[in-house]
Amino acid sequence: MAGLFITFEGIDGCGKSTQLRAACSHVEGKGFACVTTREPGGTPIGENIRELLLSREYGEMCNAGELLLYLAARAQHVAEKIRPAIASGAVVLCDRFQEATFAYQGYGRGYDVATLERLNEFATAGLAPDHTFVFDVSVPTGQKRLRQAGKEPDRLEGGAREFHERTREGYRALARAHPERMSLLDAERPAEKVAGDVAAVLDGLFARRKP
Ligand code: TMP
Repeated sequence: MAGLFITFEGIDGCGKSTQLRAACSHVEGKGFACVTTREPGGTPIGENIRELLLSREYGEMCNAGELLLYLAARAQHVAEKIRPAIASGAVVLCDRFQEATFAYQGYGRGYDVATLERLNEFATAGLAPDHTFVFDVSVPTGQKRLRQAGKEPDRLEGGAREFHERTREGYRALARAHPERMSLLDAERPAEKVAGDVAAVLDGLFARRKP
């Protein structure tokens, strides 16, 4: 059976990583192999690129360099890990993927999204998610959750409030523009309720899965 590629997106502190863990239990409960991974990261090269991208030491990083590092990490991730896992029939759950580039570098930093789509297609050699969940919370809710988790803000999390507002609006706009392949979920609700919505969408995808 062909595998599935599902991505989890939203602004920092939206709860996507918690949702990804719950979704993995659901997938395994249905008897499917589940591979979880993240961007930037997921491979030794990608995790090294992640260090460069998120370290607060590199405040001087220019926007083009930032974009290309995210895409470099993605190219390696797709080639080394995601494509082989899908080919083996696994359900791959990935914490962030292309929509993060469109929302953060496009809406947040101001790059033209059509240009980003072309660059992304080059990096992924055309691999796109079968489905994407966007966990929508307000910027203050996201920041409150990060503080409650006791997490030191990384280089992007430490960015200006307006940057995060534009990024959130970007995610919402992307999800509204592509309802056939993206679910926009209100993640201000309790995590169990959100997880129930995710499980229902996943069950629909399993039912339509190609043999
Ligand atoms: P994480 O903290 O959810 O692991 O994500 C790392 C940060 O990188 C987060 O602030 C979002 C950002 N990011 C981008 O700006 N563009 C991208 O393409 C990806 C994958 C992440």
